[in-house]
Amino acid sequence: MDTSAIKVKEDRLRKDLLDLARFGEEPDGGIMRTALSDADLEARRWFQARMREAGLRVHEDAAANIIGRLDPAAGPTDAPCIAVGSHIDAVPHGGRFDGALGICAGLEAIRAIRESGLPIPSPLELLVFTDEEGRHFAGTFGSRAMFNLLIEGEIHRSKGTGKPSMAHSLERMGKDPGRIGEAARSPSEFRAYLELHIEQGPVLESVGAPIGIVEGIVDISRYFIRTKGESGHAGTTPMHMRDDALVKAARIITAVNDAVILAGPDIVGTIGELKVEPGAFNIIPGSVQMSLEIRSMKKAAVQSLHETIQEIVRSVDNARLEPILSKGGVVMDPTIMDTIELSCHEQGIHFHRMGSGAGHDAMTFPPLGIPTGMIFIPCVNGKSHCPDEEIRWEDAAVGAQILADTVIRIASQQMQFNKTR
Ligand code: GLV
Ligand code: MN
Ligand code: MN
Repeated sequence: MDTSAIKVKEDRLRKDLLDLARFGEEPDGGIMRTALSDADLEARRWFQARMREAGLRVHEDAAANIIGRLDPAAGPTDAPCIAVGSHIDAVPHGGRFDGALGICAGLEAIRAIRESGLPIPSPLELLVFTDEEGRHFAGTFGSRAMFNLLIEGEIHRSKGTGKPSMAHSLERMGKDPGRIGEAARSPSEFRAYLELHIEQGPVLESVGAPIGIVEGIVDISRYFIRTKGESGHAGTTPMHMRDDALVKAARIITAVNDAVILAGPDIVGTIGELKVEPGAFNIIPGSVQMSLEIRSMKKAAVQSLHETIQEIVRSVDNARLEPILSKGGVVMDPTIMDTIELSCHEQGIHFHRMGSGAGHDAMTFPPLGIPTGMIFIPCVNGKSHCPDEEIRWEDAAVGAQILADTVIRIASQQMQFNKTR
């Protein structure tokens, strides 16, 4: 099929990415735009205006996902759509491109497809998911809400004192959290989902490929570990008479870290967030809650490490392990991977097939039987989730071009997807 009329504009994509990076920008080049914070709300308004300018019909669902739709000029408008998407929120003190690239490139791809004059046989959607990074709870909130996959009560939970629950943030933006169920859609509304993202690691740079074709996304298992002690006066209580919850937590942290290292090179584990109560210079910590996540392509390795960690936690007095959720551990659709590969061949672009150690909303779709694909571009020095996150503009344009090309190929072919539903 001849897709040469589709011409992504690098300048336009760069301008969008730089404009978006102004929302929540910090002096060191980093971004503070956690989900549904003021900076995020402003960025979302700005992006919705760009989507409307591009001719999309835009609305927000009950989970605050932003949905932009382009109906085909001819043919049924209620046919299953091909969706592209990512997220607009960022980790605290994060970078400018994680998520932002996917939504801006998705927009640019749709603009380029429209401008090409090629027929668009399927409806196209641009999806901007809410709280992919997990400011409120466990991450990939918007895509899980879209398919009724939220955990019981999760919208009312928060990760600690001073941190908002999703229900609170939704109310703050004028939404009724009691209606969250209205965000649910049927998987049959989707013919395919595609996401372009920065790689967030060093592989593409090291092999010199501007495009990564993602074969699968790691299994991510998330937990809280809690320790309880007894708070008391930090000046008057002798050391041998203390029950310090943070000291117990520290023992668990180092034991878990050692266990993950022993489990081998194919698995990683991180304790990344601590809530210490009451939390003062002069009070012995009475309780600690810490987050733990384990990631691996190998589910069996995750299960075996889970058992070891359970033993570690059990061996500490008054400590508890609470599993929160397990997501990912998915493979991408082989036909979509081949279509991306074909686009790369036709454009003369070198590519590399690889796994993703990072989580994405794209994890939500394959278990529902929705054919899913992901395209990566390199990030400079493999850096991500930090202010130093950088890309090369030409790689962003190539990524958007491959995305547009793949979308129109999928839309135009009667593809035999490897459906599991
Ligand atoms: C998202 O960036 C994740 O990998 O958790
Ligand atoms: Mn991220
Ligand atoms: Mn991301």
